[in-house]
Amino acid sequence: MITLITNIKELLQVRETPISKVSGAEMAILPTIKNAYLVLKDNIIAGFGSMEDVPEIKADSTIDATGKMILPSWCDSHTHIVYAGNREQEFVDRINGLSYEEIANRGGGILNSARKLNETSEEEIYNQSKARLEEVMRLGTGAVEIKSGYGLTVDGELKMLKVIKKLAENYPVTIKATFLGAHAFPLEYKENKKGYIDEIVQKMLPEIAKNKLADYVDVFCETGYFSVEETEQIMEAGIQNGLIPKIHVNQFNSIGGIQAGIKYKALSVDHLEIMNPEDIEALKNTETMPVALPSCSYFLSIPYTPAREMIKAGLPLALATDYNPGSTPSGNMNFVVATACIKMKMTPEEAINAATINGAYAMGVSDTHGSITVGKKANFILTKSITSYYQLPYAFGTNLIESVFIEGKVFE
Ligand code: NIG
Ligand code: FE
Repeated sequence: MITLITNIKELLQVRETPISKVSGAEMAILPTIKNAYLVLKDNIIAGFGSMEDVPEIKADSTIDATGKMILPSWCDSHTHIVYAGNREQEFVDRINGLSYEEIANRGGGILNSARKLNETSEEEIYNQSKARLEEVMRLGTGAVEIKSGYGLTVDGELKMLKVIKKLAENYPVTIKATFLGAHAFPLEYKENKKGYIDEIVQKMLPEIAKNKLADYVDVFCETGYFSVEETEQIMEAGIQNGLIPKIHVNQFNSIGGIQAGIKYKALSVDHLEIMNPEDIEALKNTETMPVALPSCSYFLSIPYTPAREMIKAGLPLALATDYNPGSTPSGNMNFVVATACIKMKMTPEEAINAATINGAYAMGVSDTHGSITVGKKANFILTKSITSYYQLPYAFGTNLIESVFIEGKVFE
């Protein structure tokens, strides 16, 4: 099945030679072709170029994209979209003056979601989660990482990972699964942290490895959650079970989580709202991708990741949503890109690089996603008629997507 798309006003993020990520210095450049064509063969990008060189091929279908642009679909490398219910009441409690920390300390927060998840059937969790997945696919996400971490029991964590597996089987979007048993200490282990870590290391991880239920292992390394030492212990056990670390660090405090992640060759270190100069220095010349989550900063009114300082230091940066019921009940990558420009002073070129190729790297899919490259998956966004790609972050809140192609087909 050959599809030819013609008269594309501008084809964005074109990479003739495959790359896996772009560094800080390269992020300012977004390669494009104006007045372009794109050829798909089944679910794969088979060719592209300037309309002057459009090939004379017999296509099964032709789409005229006059006035419209095409860019690779968003790669959202950090989400928690499998959860039960919501935390609307905590949202109102925060408006009325409580902090995220105060809510967590009185048994709300992650433990509130864990309670709900353990009381909800696998089928019901699947139904709630698939609605979120469909929503983000329509918003242009073509690859998504999903974490467990609201079970905090052997059964609950396995239930979440099975839901993620079922989503991956039933939807064309690319999904990577991350085990986040170390998201918070359950109440019954408050005075016995070692006991919960033993549960993770001795029971959860071997079961997950045996059933191939996860690609990555995550830990919430933060004051009041998992210490650096505990984080290292869990990363090590994850690695022994075939999982690559990808961790939550520096959301509220800089306690050495970045350095621990680098030591264990984490694929990414995520959040990074609080960064000191040593943290930036540590990330230089490593293979670990820093990931910023600006809609979390927006929702919790906490600092934004200092993107300018990091890019100036030569570091790459990826952007993701963090879609979850507590700190970011939104999976809209378009909003993330706009917020990165508006609040973190990233240029549109930097933000698009961060949300496509660098996002793909941060979830281990840059061989197949994140750029318009021959041989990569035909996962891309066709925009409505727009004046320039600056409009994407500029007109924040306006949906400028006409259709989303996943595996070469429009996702309805
Ligand atoms: O990435 N920081 C830790 N975990 C999530 C929030 C979890 C929650 O509040 O439910 C995050 O922000
Ligand atoms: Fe998160």
